[in-house]
Amino acid sequence: GTAQIGVTGLAVMGRNLARNFARHGYTVAIHNRSYAKTESLVAEHGDDGNFVPSESMADFVASLERPRKVVIMVKAGGPTDAVIDELIPLLEEGDIVVDAGNAHFPDTIRREAALKEHGLHFVGTGVSGGEEGALNGPSIMPGGTRESYASLGPILEDISAKVDGTPCCTYVGSDGAGHFVKMVHNGIEYADMQLIAEAYDLLRQGLGASAAEIGEIFAQWNTGDLESFLIEITADVLQHVDAETGKAFVDIVLDQAEQKGTGRWTVQNGLDLGVPITGIAEATFARALSGSVPQRAAGRASLPAHVQAWEVKDRDAFIEDVRQALYASKVVAYSQGFDQIAAAAAEFGWDIDRGAMARIWRGGCIIRARFLNRITEAYERDADLPLLLADPYFTDAVASGLPAWRRVVAGAAQNGVPTPAFSSSLAYYDGVRAERLPAALVQAQRDFFGAHTYKRVDREGTFHTEWSGDRTEAEA
Ligand code: 6PG
Repeated sequence: GTAQIGVTGLAVMGRNLARNFARHGYTVAIHNRSYAKTESLVAEHGDDGNFVPSESMADFVASLERPRKVVIMVKAGGPTDAVIDELIPLLEEGDIVVDAGNAHFPDTIRREAALKEHGLHFVGTGVSGGEEGALNGPSIMPGGTRESYASLGPILEDISAKVDGTPCCTYVGSDGAGHFVKMVHNGIEYADMQLIAEAYDLLRQGLGASAAEIGEIFAQWNTGDLESFLIEITADVLQHVDAETGKAFVDIVLDQAEQKGTGRWTVQNGLDLGVPITGIAEATFARALSGSVPQRAAGRASLPAHVQAWEVKDRDAFIEDVRQALYASKVVAYSQGFDQIAAAAAEFGWDIDRGAMARIWRGGCIIRARFLNRITEAYERDADLPLLLADPYFTDAVASGLPAWRRVVAGAAQNGVPTPAFSSSLAYYDGVRAERLPAALVQAQRDFFGAHTYKRVDREGTFHTEWSGDRTEAEA
């Protein structure tokens, strides 16, 4: 074979990845379940470079240089397993199978172990940036063996996005680490989107501003600390007018947010690991609430607000408050997500460089932002930082916005504007900095009704009080 890399699964993401490889001078073997898509790729984009189309999987595999590198870009779950099963008998020891879809990381761990039995490398890799990123440079998060990265990595780095000349691709960690990090990326994406949506809602309800006016505010914000892809597209979306009705586009979209599941996985894993990723969880639940149609109909019909019309006195001061609250809440959501990566690394034996993750998210991906540089710098100062918020830069950044953050959350509560992500992020901030938490009372309650025991602040040991008897304390 002569092709340096192969792509099977030529729906839009696979197609664009294949074109990206070709544009970087690689000879790309291409395959799809139905040959028509393979033919149309060559017909429409043959100019991008060298494609070697195959109708059968066997011919596709045979067209590849050894060790073969096969990128699978099909639907996560059953379809991915089916392609892997078809590939295994055709491959030889040392070949590399890359799953570039949004696989659930436990599936990646399972598949990596299974392919190892056959002497094959399995690389589960996160790829972010949507269709446009796949074609012009995504952020790439590959897991698997270091050995596989030695030959595959340079190719992936080549086609990835670049920021200041640095590729947005690096080795993440063994087996499922790449897909895990991509999952957390998506969870953070949910939190970031929800925070932006809450900021928009506050401005809309607090100022009575139009969507387009708020779009201008976001465009302004995009020139400062908040500069990011998501803020930029929000400004664009808010200024877009529906051609049919002439109304603001955002006003003609049904307010029920959907999801494909990566946010849900992130929250489930946060619960499993006991990491309080409240920003991501609230964002995921906010989507669920928006889609709770019968509950919302019942709530709308019967639940009073008991608020007066919101009157913001100083327009510019309020906008600045919301901006600072958004930034602080965003720092909390990212801090929580990076905590989750650290917890999973310990749990699954991954050696993940969190600063490097922030670095490869600076470009190509959906959460790309200027502010990620600050996260990389924080982990450069202390690779084992237990709490991103406690890095001096972030401590100062959040502290300076704290009065604004409190005003915004209080104002939202007083005026009946739902801000689950803003509010829970502030609650997390106050919780994680608290000298004492009422968890002590929860422990006492648990011991009272279930003899679940407690520890004391003043000496070692585990204790139980005879609550229903003479209330003596015994070491458990
Ligand atoms: C990316 C995105 C992508 C994700 C979509 C939709 O990094 O390019 O995260 O992988 O699938 O954004 O996600 P939801 O449908 O769950 O909102």
